[in-house]
Amino acid sequence: MEKVRGKRKQIKGEHVMKNFLLTNIFGGWYYCLAGLLIACFIPIAILQPKSVDNRLDAKDEKSLPSYGSMTQNESLFKAYSLDNNLVAREREENLRKYSYKYGKIDRRSKLSLKEFYDVYDGKWPVLITDVVPNWKAFNWTADFFMNHYGKERVAMKAVDGTLEKAISLALPFELFIQHTKHGFANSWTYLEDELFIPMRPNLKRDIGSCPYMDEDFFQIFPEDVRPWNAMLLWGTAFSRSSLHIDPYNWTGTNAVIFGRKRWRLYPPGQDHLLNVIPEKFSNFPLDCRKYNSPIDTHDKTDKGNLKASKADVIEFDQLPGEILFIPTGWFHQAFNVEETLAISSQVMNRNNYRVVLEEILKVDTIDRKSLPPEIDSLQPEEQVKLIMDNLPQKVLERGRQVTEDVVKQIKQTRQDSHYTLN
Ligand SMILES: *[C@@H]1O[C@H](CO)[C@@H](O)[C@H](O)[C@H]1NC(C)=O
Ligand SMILES: *[C@@H]1O[C@H](CO)[C@@H](O)[C@H](O)[C@H]1NC(C)=O
Ligand SMILES: *[C@@H]1O[C@H](CO)[C@@H](O)[C@H](O)[C@H]1NC(C)=O
Repeated sequence: MEKVRGKRKQIKGEHVMKNFLLTNIFGGWYYCLAGLLIACFIPIAILQPKSVDNRLDAKDEKSLPSYGSMTQNESLFKAYSLDNNLVAREREENLRKYSYKYGKIDRRSKLSLKEFYDVYDGKWPVLITDVVPNWKAFNWTADFFMNHYGKERVAMKAVDGTLEKAISLALPFELFIQHTKHGFANSWTYLEDELFIPMRPNLKRDIGSCPYMDEDFFQIFPEDVRPWNAMLLWGTAFSRSSLHIDPYNWTGTNAVIFGRKRWRLYPPGQDHLLNVIPEKFSNFPLDCRKYNSPIDTHDKTDKGNLKASKADVIEFDQLPGEILFIPTGWFHQAFNVEETLAISSQVMNRNNYRVVLEEILKVDTIDRKSLPPEIDSLQPEEQVKLIMDNLPQKVLERGRQVTEDVVKQIKQTRQDSHYTLN
């Protein structure tokens, strides 16, 4: 575990971000576990890359089983990678079954589960409009957080300049809330806290159900290695994520409570246009590769955009009360057009479980040869169970350790309540 390199830096200009940065320097505490806490956003605090499973080279890839048909009688659980052409063809076929006029990005309500799985999930993004308005969380306001959680610390990143210079901070919520109107083209703050909601049952309860997320094999994972769910995202105008794919290439969801989010979503298979940084790791309790692009598609001075602008992309704005499903394997960058509060989550289900399992196996966590030969013939959920049952003790141990460390860190920050506003 490595300390975040929050360098002491001289900030020019008078606006409020100075306060954030100075507090960071003198408050003396920042999240050390940024790789874990802010996993998808800033490439910092990464452990030394580990050796990657050599068995995944060219020889294996030629005999990849096709998407959705894992019934081959093989003695090894074969390396797998999403065949996007096949997925696209499957979607084309399914589209004909339903009498809906499909566009680039559809806004759907009363969408049947069947149609969701057939034409969107794992295949194409969709905005669902009739789920989030039923959540208590849809009533969350700045006052609500100020009154109940003002003194608690939250993890955020602050940028003064370009995205690559983002620094990670853990500051009192009230300090952040007082400054949410201060977002400028080159100076903005983005609260991204993966643990704030999961650690507060009251907040968790406010997030209601969503039928499209009910099937979730992550729930089968042992708790110590299960990814945290429901990340709190609250950005000033101009704040943004990096261009990335979520850990384990999971299917991501994002529910906007208030504000407006602008999305760029890139269909799979375009890594070569996005300068993807290889050999990075998430440093999650159950480690996985991290697919990040250094390109900021909202920064016109970023030269990477010359190449990235050749890629196929879907662009749209997401409004309050809408929940977005980002299919597995799609690079995406979110940009808050105005101050925006949102909750992001993830699912592992029938349409992406092989991708997620592959991303886990890639990192040497389990020896493929140790898996029983009949695994391919099992139901998806049973396959996931079997692999979880085969996680080596040391992997579980590491997961437990990472989780414990994070929780300890958070408890310490609560005690350390001194901070200053200049
Ligand atoms: C499938 O695998 C089993 C052993 O797991 C073997 O007995 C059987 O002959 C195989 N069938 C085919 C068609 O390869
Ligand atoms: C996950 O996404 C990355 C980046 O596009 C890709 O290289 C990788 O093959 C994907 N994983 C699977 C199992 O398809
Ligand atoms: C949100 O607040 C309004 C006004 O207090 C209330 O009528 C409504 O039921 C609340 N919504 C939910 C989903 O709890």
